[in-house]
Amino acid sequence: MCGIIGIVGDRPVSDRLVEALRRLEYRGYDSAGIATGGAGVIDRRRAEGKLDNLIDVLDGAPLPGTIGIGHTRWATHGAPTKNNAHPHATDRVAVVHNGIIENFQVLREELIAKGHVFQSETDSEVIAHLVTDGLDQGQTPQQAAAATFARLHGAFALGILFSDEDDLLIGARRGSPLVVGYGDGEMYLGSDAMAVGPLSNRICYLAEGDWVELRSAGAIIHDETDAIVEREIRSSSVAAEAIDKGNYPHFMLKEIYEQPTVIGDTLNTYFNALSGKAHMPPMPFDMANVPKITIVACGTAAYAGSVAKYWFEQIARVSVETDVASEFRYREAAMPEGGLAIFVSQSGETADTLAALRYARSQGQHIVSIVNVPDSSIARESDVVLPTHAGPEIGVASTKAFTCQLTVLACLVLTMARARNAIDDAREAILCAALAHVPELARDVLQHDDRILSIAGDMVDARDVLYIGRGSLFPIAMEGALKLKEISYIHAEGYAAGEMKHGPIALVDDGVPIIVLAPSGPLFEKTVSNMHEVIARQGQVFLLSDEAGLKAAGDVPHSIALPDVDAFIAPILYALPVQLLAYHLAVLKGTDIDQPRNLAKSVTVE
Ligand code: AGP
Repeated sequence: MCGIIGIVGDRPVSDRLVEALRRLEYRGYDSAGIATGGAGVIDRRRAEGKLDNLIDVLDGAPLPGTIGIGHTRWATHGAPTKNNAHPHATDRVAVVHNGIIENFQVLREELIAKGHVFQSETDSEVIAHLVTDGLDQGQTPQQAAAATFARLHGAFALGILFSDEDDLLIGARRGSPLVVGYGDGEMYLGSDAMAVGPLSNRICYLAEGDWVELRSAGAIIHDETDAIVEREIRSSSVAAEAIDKGNYPHFMLKEIYEQPTVIGDTLNTYFNALSGKAHMPPMPFDMANVPKITIVACGTAAYAGSVAKYWFEQIARVSVETDVASEFRYREAAMPEGGLAIFVSQSGETADTLAALRYARSQGQHIVSIVNVPDSSIARESDVVLPTHAGPEIGVASTKAFTCQLTVLACLVLTMARARNAIDDAREAILCAALAHVPELARDVLQHDDRILSIAGDMVDARDVLYIGRGSLFPIAMEGALKLKEISYIHAEGYAAGEMKHGPIALVDDGVPIIVLAPSGPLFEKTVSNMHEVIARQGQVFLLSDEAGLKAAGDVPHSIALPDVDAFIAPILYALPVQLLAYHLAVLKGTDIDQPRNLAKSVTVE
């Protein structure tokens, strides 16, 4: 999952390639590089690590040229070194690639036998050599490129630059998205609308299997049979939005603090303050008769789905299955005809989630997606899109997108419960009133930041941290553990509190902090019993509950009193302190909070 950009025109491209890479860094930041061509040579600059390193290289050795390609990498094959950084090049061709070439070993051996010399450990480099091989045999760039695409197995979005062509870039996509941008005397190629958005507001999403010849005056698009085709050009609303951290030291902290506002913005779309009821846009199916719901997503978005499973089953009385997309897509799940499949994704580009969506479609499901990027691949392939209104989320650790996903799901649950006559008016009024108060309650929860910082100080030397909760707080325990792992690199696990005695309690000693998520409600006493089992074994417990819960729990040395709320909305509010705890621990550890090691914001490879 890398970001790619290409520009062909008659003005220098280097600066604009780098600016586009800045917008694409969310796809990976292991290395970055750009290449220009057209004057008989391929000229490249590449650097290991963040884009700033490439900028330093370019400061010392600027790159001229009016045609070029650029790449920001999340390493799959080959270490994140300069040598493995894209563009990969021969003396005739340079290539940027997002995806994985599954048969690269076979192709590489074949090309080595023909005398090609490889410089990297990547799967991508074979593409540059295959195209070069075609050119060496007298093929045109178009013929060499088309012949190469036919030999590749796996997923790719590609940008190809030629040493001898000053007005031709070739792009191609199979499995990975690719966008063409139309400018005035200039054309663009990019991984997504964000890459080309500020350069052009007229874009075209290439269809699966398409490849494109891009010249400064326009584009010729071919389908997978090489026939010339027309694709819709649409206007893009992605602007060159200035995204900054404001007065916050990190995007993650800013995004945590934006939650009261963006949850409110999301509620404004799906909740009518006058009627006091949740509502949804028209659905092309009857919500009252959905036989089953399947919710599929990855990572944090999957935990939002897991919370919603509790809600749908308890409140709307409909059977729900949840799965992570990487498992779901290959397990040939049996799905009843006419079922509802919900896909949750901040980016809307997660490759596994998109593949799972396509499987669900093949099984006759109605497809609803909850995404934060309305023009994303997942949104474009859905029957109904329910956008979250979290605004751009830059920190790799998902925070505000998660609570906005929960907000949309809560509104969907209430709407479906009403459609199915599963809820009476009085209960609906209580749950709706609770939901309407989430923004102000979230503000109250954030007031505990100093206390959470001091708890983080008590935990900074921990090697392992456990999070426990029951019911809809169990997914929040897993989310808390995921947040901590990904940004502080402290090992953490989230468990159903009742499962501790079936194994994990063996880990407990006085060096293992245990975060207990136990709002008052039907499961409170059970969770507190599990907490005491841990305390009895010298576990260092940190209890998150409300005033009534803390009183009932007895003597617990470390605790935070969160607002007293209906159990329905507790998972949304309890997500905030676990985000803040992970954040403060990461600050104390000195890690790279917004761009943690080995990760990328959008995971576009399987
Ligand atoms: C969360 O903090 C993660 N970085 C990650 O688990 C993320 O939620 C997952 O990759 C799914 O991404 P998506 O929402 O863009 O599909």
